[in-house]
Amino acid sequence: MKIAMVGSGYVGLVSGACFADFGHDVVCIDKDASKIASLDQGVMPIFEPGLAELVASNVKGGRLTFSTDLAGSIAGAQAIFIAVGTPSRRGDGHADLSYVYAVAQELSEHLTDPVVIVTKSTVPVGTGDEVERIIAESGTSAQFAVVSNPEFLREGAAIGDFKRPDRIVIGAEEEWAQGVMKEVYRPLFLNKAPILFTSRRSSELIKYAANAFLATKITFINEMADLCEKVGADVQDVSRGIGLDGRIGAKFLHAGPGYGGSCFPKDTLALLKTAEDYNSPVRLVEAVVKVNDSRKRAMGRKVIEALGGEARGKRVALLGLTFKPNTDDMRDAPSIAVVQALIDAGAEVVAYDPEGMDAAAAIMPGVTMVANTYEAVEGADAVVLVTEWDAFRALDFSRVKRLVKAPVLVDLRNVYDPGELRAAGFAYSSVGRP
Ligand code: UGA
Repeated sequence: MKIAMVGSGYVGLVSGACFADFGHDVVCIDKDASKIASLDQGVMPIFEPGLAELVASNVKGGRLTFSTDLAGSIAGAQAIFIAVGTPSRRGDGHADLSYVYAVAQELSEHLTDPVVIVTKSTVPVGTGDEVERIIAESGTSAQFAVVSNPEFLREGAAIGDFKRPDRIVIGAEEEWAQGVMKEVYRPLFLNKAPILFTSRRSSELIKYAANAFLATKITFINEMADLCEKVGADVQDVSRGIGLDGRIGAKFLHAGPGYGGSCFPKDTLALLKTAEDYNSPVRLVEAVVKVNDSRKRAMGRKVIEALGGEARGKRVALLGLTFKPNTDDMRDAPSIAVVQALIDAGAEVVAYDPEGMDAAAAIMPGVTMVANTYEAVEGADAVVLVTEWDAFRALDFSRVKRLVKAPVLVDLRNVYDPGELRAAGFAYSSVGRP
């Protein structure tokens, strides 16, 4: 089957490469000519484990190509995916749908029938209706259906998530379109990945509900962590103790500095906007957004407390800057708020991140980026673990202790063992642990 993927960002590129790997004939399209030129050279626009290899083998196999030419690339495609960005609209938090609608408009002028247009971008309820209207009003004579197919992959684990999904959600009302989507996902269907067919609106809402629920789970355990610190309990035990209850589930109960990234912050805000538009408030999610925002700022204060309440003139080493490991993505990373708080308080900030320093340097001009962990900790009055990259898990603490000015360690991801760190002579603090 020929598949066209419009938008070669995170979701588009990973999905396109995986569909090609299933044996489909895929063209990934993007307006950004330099991105397409790089992809043609085998250079990935993002850091995602395994992606470069997957792209290379499918290009070599003749199943994956790249193009800037939408009109020329979609001919003969039975499914055209829209996987362009839907960032938060400046000022009001609404998802900005201008890229999605521009693609719909452009597609409408070049459709050949019959074709299923699939929205993979995260889009608010009703977007599919609007895409359908735009195409229908263009007067195209092609037979088409507009389907919703949200993506649930995580950055850093994107290929595994795509190939072994918990479920595939497809919002398609027409039977023939359901048939095309079954063909698209047949390789996964054979692996018994559950496919859930719903209405288009339900499918659109499932995506936001899933992300809002996960953000809620994280925020819940983060507040429990704060309570643990006050009452002398251990949030790791609390998390395990509740997570073993099958009704609750163990995942996404890891306390930390607050969720970040390109999805939870933007999607929770967009859900609030939808709720407001339909006059059906989701107060729980409103609280989650507020609590998470203030938590990121509170993490900066936590570091200042560990410095004895005074940060002026102190040198702080940050280990990890990206919003989570195995990505170079800095969008809404908790490190941004931590850096801001430290710089505002007069500290000097030095940082090392295995993949995120280029992106970070652009938004944190006041931070000195260094080449490795040990260079970062040299002369530091406090070391802060912000992102739990594997490379930070087995540090040589006696070496760290020799290099730092003061052995103060703030672990915002609960990676280290408090007993061991104290035995090694560190003033150690973490999140929600005694
Ligand atoms: C998230 C969802 O997990 C995906 O299912 C979804 O497809 C994606 O958004 C999206 O909408 O595109 P992602 O943002 O890549 O994926 O990353 P997550 O692994 O979910 O982490 C999000 C944030 O939550 C990170 O800052 C992470 O550190 C934090 N987190 C996660 C915690 O603080 N505790 C946890 O237990 C889990």
